[in-house]
Amino acid sequence: MGVGRWVSGLGLIGIAVAFYVTAPVSLDPETLVDPATDALRIGDAERGATVFAAAGCGSCHAAEGTDALAGGKAFVSDFGTFYAPNISTDPQHGIGRWTVYEIANAMMAGISPDTAHYYPAFPYTTYSKMTGMDAVDLIAHLRTLPADATPSRDYDVGFPFNIRRLLGGWKVLFASDDWVVADVATPELERGRYMVEALGHCAECHTPRNVLGGLETDNWMRGAANPSGDGRIPSIHPDDLGWSAQDIAIYLDSGFTPDFDTVGGEMVDVVDNTSQLTDDDRAAIAAYLVTLD
Ligand code: HEC
Ligand code: HEC
Repeated sequence: MGVGRWVSGLGLIGIAVAFYVTAPVSLDPETLVDPATDALRIGDAERGATVFAAAGCGSCHAAEGTDALAGGKAFVSDFGTFYAPNISTDPQHGIGRWTVYEIANAMMAGISPDTAHYYPAFPYTTYSKMTGMDAVDLIAHLRTLPADATPSRDYDVGFPFNIRRLLGGWKVLFASDDWVVADVATPELERGRYMVEALGHCAECHTPRNVLGGLETDNWMRGAANPSGDGRIPSIHPDDLGWSAQDIAIYLDSGFTPDFDTVGGEMVDVVDNTSQLTDDDRAAIAAYLVTLD
C-alpha cells in the first residue's frame, strides 16, 4: 500500500510538472511601452501598412476578393486542418474589441485573450522577434481595415492535437527568441535578418520540419516538403539557388526569375507583399539570403 501511494504521488508530481511546463507564458507588457513616456506606444497606421505587408498577415487572413481580414483559408497539416480566423475589425466575429495588448500577445506569444495557446500554423514563433514599435504600428493599421461579420470556421483537428494545452510543450521545444543567424556584420544584414526571421516567416515554407513540426534550423532555407502535399518548396540557400542578391531583389519586386520565368504557387502572395516594400528592404532580404552558410 505504501509503495502504491508513492507511485501515484510521483504520477501526480509528473502531471503537475507537465502542466507547469505547458502553462501559457504571456508577452511582457513592457514590450509595448515607450521608455521615453512610460505609456503605451502610439501606433502609426501608415508605417503599420508596411509592417503588415512584410509580415504577410493578409496572405492568410484576407478573404478572397476583399480587403477585410475575414479569414477562411485552410491549412492542411499532419495534425489536421486549421482555418485562418476572422481578424477583421468586426466587434463580434473579428477582433474589433481586443486591446492592443491582446492582439500583440496573440501575434507575438501565441496566446489568446482567454489564455489558451494558438497552433503554430499562425507564425507567432516568428513574430515573437518583432519590435514593440512595429507591433503597435501594425495594430494601428489593422484598425483601419473594414469589418466583416463572417464567423470563423471550426477546425478539423483530431485527438490529442485538439488539446491546446499540449502546445505549451511544443513551444518549450521549438519556440526560441534567438536569431538563427547569430552574427550579422552590417546594418543591412541586420535589417535583412529582421525582415526574414522576424517578419517575413520565409522559413515557415522554405525550411524543413522534424516529425513534431519544429523547424530544422540546421537546414535553414534548404527547401521543404509542401504542406499541401504537392511537390516541394525550393531551397533558397545560396548553395542551391545560385542567384545574385540583385536577382533575388528583382524577383521579390516583380516576380521575374533571372531566366524570365514568373513566380508561381504560394510564392505569388509573398511577392504581392514584398513588392510593397522599399528597395532597401528588398535588398536587405537578398543580402541576408546570399550570405547564409
Ligand atoms: C501562415 C498563415 C498566417 C499568417 C501569415 C498570419 N496568421 Fe494569424 N492566424 C493564423 C491561424 C491558422 C490562426 C489560428 C490559430 C489557432 O486557432 O490556434 C491565426 C490566428 C490569429 C489571431 C487570433 C484570432 C482569434 O480569433 O483568436 C490573430 C489576432 C492573428 N492571427 C493576427 C495575425 C496578424 C496580425 C498577422 C500578421 C502579423 C497574422 N495573424 C499572420 C494564420 C496566420
Ligand atoms: C507560403 C509559403 C512561402 C513563403 C512564406 C515564402 N515562400 Fe518563397 N517560395 C515558395 C514557393 C512555393 C516557391 C516556388 C515558386 C514557383 O514555383 O514559382 C518559392 C520560391 C522562392 C524563390 C525562388 C526560388 C526558385 O528556385 O525559383 C525565392 C528567392 C523565394 N521563394 C524567397 C522567399 C523569401 C525571401 C521569403 C520571405 C520573405 C519567402 N520566399 C517566403 C513558398 C513560400
